[in-house]
Amino acid sequence: MNAVQNSTTRSAASNPLDKKRNIIAIASGKGGVGKTWFSITLSHALARRNQRVLLFDADLGLANVDIQLGLMPERDLGGVISGRLSLAQAKVHFDEGNFDVLAGRSGSGGLAALPPNRLNTLGSDLLELSSSYDRVVMDLGAGIDRTVRSLSSRAGTTLVLTNTEPTALTDAYAFIKISIQANPAADIRIVINNCASHAEGRKTYETLRKACDSFLKYEPILLGMIRHDVSVLRSIRNQTAILTRYPNCDAADDVRAAVDVLLEAR
Ligand SMILES: Nc1ncnc2c1ncn2[C@@H]1O[C@H](COP(=O)(O)OP(=O)(O)O)[C@@H](O)[C@H]1O
Ligand SMILES: [Mg+2]
Repeated sequence: MNAVQNSTTRSAASNPLDKKRNIIAIASGKGGVGKTWFSITLSHALARRNQRVLLFDADLGLANVDIQLGLMPERDLGGVISGRLSLAQAKVHFDEGNFDVLAGRSGSGGLAALPPNRLNTLGSDLLELSSSYDRVVMDLGAGIDRTVRSLSSRAGTTLVLTNTEPTALTDAYAFIKISIQANPAADIRIVINNCASHAEGRKTYETLRKACDSFLKYEPILLGMIRHDVSVLRSIRNQTAILTRYPNCDAADDVRAAVDVLLEAR
């Protein structure tokens, strides 16, 4: 990273990944930038590096992980919220990817509007369950509402995903701002998704980094850049994981490169 540091700028790079809090939140602020696709592909790539992975669909009430993977889970978070299942009992194994999934339930009003005490319990249960895994990947919903803030506060690392559009960048900045206000030592890293080239991705990152440095005195580091790739849309349409269907496409290469950086940082 060529982020220039100065003495008054706090840097995420100085916060090593807390091994006890091996939860990685995927956030964006703006919807539709690729969080769910990236969460799945990151989980898959981590599992292929022999990591024990749990993918938690934390877009409560608008779950998409099962749809993108073509799963019909017999158990999901709905059972947890109704009190029938513990969080550990609600997970299913995604054989093809060799990782576990805690699926959400789309259209569930109960999940979408969890009261603060239930959200707290869910977060604590997740922390407990995370000790059975090397990594837990948490696919957050869009926005910066109470649910998103509460769940993201459980993560040791937050990957803020943005594309190159000014609206996505503005929302990513807003997410970083509230995260830093809540926890000045937050470990936030940036993933630029859907860029035309790595050069464009780096330029986009620099724009975001400069805004964070100027206004927040915080420099989030760059984890990776994922190029625009028609294979992403094709694999989602086919409801098949991209690492299974198009393992050698540009976007798959880029996610693997991000995983290399993530695992090196341990
Ligand atoms: N790297 C990429 N290349 C091409 N299309 C992409 C890429 N990343 C995301 N997309 C497109 O963005 C859409 C939204 O992705 P999704 O994971 O559902 O976003 P989110 O969870 O942030 O709402 C996908 O259906 C896909 O068409
Ligand atoms: Mg999503």
